[in-house]
Amino acid sequence: MDAREMKIKAAEAALAHVEDGMRLGIGTGSTAEEFVRLLAEKVASGFRVEGVPTSERTARLCVELGVPLKSLDELPALDLTVDGADEVDPALRLIKGGGGALLREKIVAAASERMIVIADESKLVDTLGAYALPIEVNPFGLVSTRMAIEKVAARLGLSGELSLRQSGDGEFTTDGGHHIIDASFGRIPDAEALSSELNSIPGVVEHGLFINMAALAIIAGPAGARTLQANR
Ligand code: A5P
Repeated sequence: MDAREMKIKAAEAALAHVEDGMRLGIGTGSTAEEFVRLLAEKVASGFRVEGVPTSERTARLCVELGVPLKSLDELPALDLTVDGADEVDPALRLIKGGGGALLREKIVAAASERMIVIADESKLVDTLGAYALPIEVNPFGLVSTRMAIEKVAARLGLSGELSLRQSGDGEFTTDGGHHIIDASFGRIPDAEALSSELNSIPGVVEHGLFINMAALAIIAGPAGARTLQANR
């Protein structure tokens, strides 16, 4: 089974949790896109859902495939969000934001009764941090914000390159008009502490640590999909 087939397996298993009439948060990334494709097939056969997309990219795919969309302001309380992740640890803490949509992803997940994460098994790790942590920052005062991130990291015993994400011929810009610093810490032993320290930096808009948000992770490997449950 190749990586795409595993993503489809995880997406199929997540679709089993979607009930007729649900208000759904719809994630971003290649795994979430497999979910959108399968969801669109169900919608075409009469299944009713209303989706809130976590990015302009996801919104475009939903429109193209006929998945009905609403804004989060129109549907401020959602039943379920299904989204991918860059890393998942055994406590279902996540790193997200590889696709640059972490801010809307976190807002949508927080507005949902439940979040289900879908991923292939390459995303499952013992400790978060091998994947560079995306930190969404306001373009104003970027140098100061970067210094503040370095200070916080040093206090927590973390080090590593902080690189401003690029795209085409300039800085990558998120749907919200911000930039992303990818922090290659290598290993994040205390994700909760890092999360709250980063949240205290004014120039940090949001970061890709999702803690206590996912209720289930559906992880697909060559033998099929298995479900991990958060112990909360
Ligand atoms: C988007 O910003 C991310 O949070 C994605 O959910 C994450 O990068 C997973 O993407 P893939 O499913 O493409 O690996």
